[in-house]
Amino acid sequence: MKSTMTMTDNTTGKSYEFEIKDATRGPSVVDISSFYAQTGMFTFDNGYTSTASCVSDITFIDGAKGELRYRGKPIEELAKNHTYLETCYLLLNSKLPNKEELNAFDLELRHRSFLHEGLKNLFLTFPSGGHPMAALSAATATLSTFFYSHLNINDENEYQEMARRIVAKMPTIAAFAYRHSIGASFIQPDITKSFTENFLYMLRAYPNGHMHIDPEGERVIKPIEVEALDTIFTLHADHEQNASTSIVRGVASTGAHPYVAISSGISALWGRAHGGANESVIKQLEMIGSVDRVDEFIARAKDPKDEFRLMGFGHRVYKNFDPRAKILKGLQDKLKDELNLDSNLMQIANKIEEIALSDEYFISRKLYPNIDFYSGVILTALQIPKTMFTPIFVIGRTVGWITQWIEFKKDKTTKIARPRQLYLGK
Ligand code: CMC
Repeated sequence: MKSTMTMTDNTTGKSYEFEIKDATRGPSVVDISSFYAQTGMFTFDNGYTSTASCVSDITFIDGAKGELRYRGKPIEELAKNHTYLETCYLLLNSKLPNKEELNAFDLELRHRSFLHEGLKNLFLTFPSGGHPMAALSAATATLSTFFYSHLNINDENEYQEMARRIVAKMPTIAAFAYRHSIGASFIQPDITKSFTENFLYMLRAYPNGHMHIDPEGERVIKPIEVEALDTIFTLHADHEQNASTSIVRGVASTGAHPYVAISSGISALWGRAHGGANESVIKQLEMIGSVDRVDEFIARAKDPKDEFRLMGFGHRVYKNFDPRAKILKGLQDKLKDELNLDSNLMQIANKIEEIALSDEYFISRKLYPNIDFYSGVILTALQIPKTMFTPIFVIGRTVGWITQWIEFKKDKTTKIARPRQLYLGK
């Protein structure tokens, strides 16, 4: 027997019945798709706090427990035992790759990492000094013009190929955007390097492709840096129906191809309430400047008349420690001695965390540190410039966006995303 929910309109006394659909994990949903047809009214859910927008089997979050899984695999297991590329394969193919599958996937991505020479002209049109996120969004949409004859979104082989192409090229786009923003010449990918090492190489190399050698004659891209960044990419790979992913699905719902859908996702991610928070966290720590000023800013964060918010705190879904933040906190401790973690920033961050976790304001609102609170300090230690923090989020999240685009495409029940409104105008 179907489970249903009955709702009664107290103004008319009429009752309406809606089907309850159970999830394999997490909350069930009440199917209100016939609500308007039955009642003549819309439902209202500002910010979608109670709305499931789609059916999905990609990522699961239990916000109360602080649990995150990709394709059923706990994030802790993926971060500890698997690389970012394995995680990409898992998201795209619903299974972890065996050795041969991983080699083939890795090789294909290395070969697809180059950009058409013509795309350089796009970067050159931007004034240097601009934020790389703008160039990232524009270049991703523009990629479609270079693959104009391969834009058949009704051919699964073609859109699966688009997926691998976009994932492979995003680090190169991000590195080009950054290099142009500082007036440096572009560095081509080095296909002998892994996905993550290659990105660090494209950011750091001198114009002739040579790497800086430090006074001890050490290799300049340290394995621990690659490992840390790879973990950061894994932790960002997907996050269910967050703001940017919902935008990607919304654009997909109009029949648009992945390049523009992801370009829109990049724009949505840029805001400081979403992916832009990682850059804002470090700017905020720098603004606070010293441990003895933390109390002043905590007081501002708690003041309802002050718009100041503690960046890197709070989450719509997690009402417990963000599991990604827990992993990064562990990584931060591991890196403390090996890399030059900025001890002043870390001390300020630790003090904020300590106060916030014991303060009634934060406890009662279940405001815990999120992924962005820790990623900034780690990225600073990896010598990543602040303007590249959110582009790094983009690189990690691209596979999630395209996986969600594909799921949307394959779901034959989907419709154009077209909400209604409560009209209060003239
Ligand atoms: N500092 C101080 N107070 C906060 C904060 C914060 N960071 N976040 C939420 N609150 C308060 C808020 O003022 C409200 O208080 P009250 O009930 O008295 O009005 C209450 O907590 C609930 O906040 P909300 O804005 O209704 O919660 P939301 O679910 O709509 O917003 C959020 C979630 C992440 C946008 C918000 O917590 C925030 O702005 N955090 C700072 C930005 C940030 O770190 N964003 C990264 C999110 S994780 C990475 C990602 O997914 O992109």
